[in-house]
Amino acid sequence: MGAGFDFDGWLKRQQARVEALLAARMDAIAQRTPAKLAEAMRYSLLAGGKRLRPVLVLAFADAVARASNGGGEPANDAACAVEMIHTYSLVHDDLPAMDDDDLRRGRPTSHKMFGEAMAILAGDALLTDALATVATGDPAAIRALLASELALAAGGGGMVGGQVLDIAVDRPAELDYLVRLHRLKTGALLKASCRLGVLAAGGGPEVLKAAEIYGEAIGLAFQIADDVLDVTATPEQMGKPTRADADAGRHTFPAVVGLEQARLLAQQSVRTAMEAVRVLEPESGPLAALAMYTVERTH
Ligand code: IPE
Ligand code: IPE
Ligand code: MG
Ligand code: MG
Ligand code: MG
Repeated sequence: MGAGFDFDGWLKRQQARVEALLAARMDAIAQRTPAKLAEAMRYSLLAGGKRLRPVLVLAFADAVARASNGGGEPANDAACAVEMIHTYSLVHDDLPAMDDDDLRRGRPTSHKMFGEAMAILAGDALLTDALATVATGDPAAIRALLASELALAAGGGGMVGGQVLDIAVDRPAELDYLVRLHRLKTGALLKASCRLGVLAAGGGPEVLKAAEIYGEAIGLAFQIADDVLDVTATPEQMGKPTRADADAGRHTFPAVVGLEQARLLAQQSVRTAMEAVRVLEPESGPLAALAMYTVERTH
């Protein structure tokens, strides 16, 4: 990493910041939620995870406002909301009707712990309460922008649409299809995370565009890395089963273009992302480092 910037230390601090915000939001939600449901929501939400999406929200807000906590409560709520939606997507992704996985974030999956019905409902509640979290509060105009951004990224034209492309029986083993699939399945929420940070901090069109280019590029790189790690990493390292994609007959980047080409494509995307955020920070700042982290991560 560039001189003068301790990325590992910075990331740990941001992750701790996110954990505290999430715990507080979860406590507030639990007050109005049946205890068993709240327990299942908390189990998956506060199970660790890299917290990349909320860290991106906060990093963009801070970069735009040129201040720590520059996006204030709207950014904090958007950060929590995107992680809640991401968590719901994982709970549902692991269900027997989807990937049928037993391990997530190093522990038994939600349906293994609480049964299928409760896992479905915990996911439903995480999604819906996420939108309530981001939409509620001041300033109303910014909240409306954030809620709309998040809902569009999570819905049929975003993450859910991508999941459908992923499970389609007639999906072609072609690069174009894979890129489209990844853009929706993983890219949409990552891109939205970047844009949410900018919107919360009141950034203008130029930075919003930079966030969009960056988010799209790291979104692609991140899912390529997920596919590569599915082939190269161990379940202990990942906290989830590996080799699952091949077993399910999924078309992944390594399967379609080969491992080396997949890695090259990911690195190319990272370079695109790093160039895009030069308008926002000097070369060795957190956004550039986060872009590298999306592919250099080991879990
Ligand atoms: C896993 O996401 C699913 C994908 C979209 C690739 P992450 O790798 O961000 O999972 P956590 O949040 O760290 O558990
Ligand atoms: C899931 O993709 C992405 C979403 C939940 C939207 P994967 O099925 O590849 O994720 P993992 O590998 O189970 O984490
Ligand atoms: Mg899946
Ligand atoms: Mg899966
Ligand atoms: Mg995967």
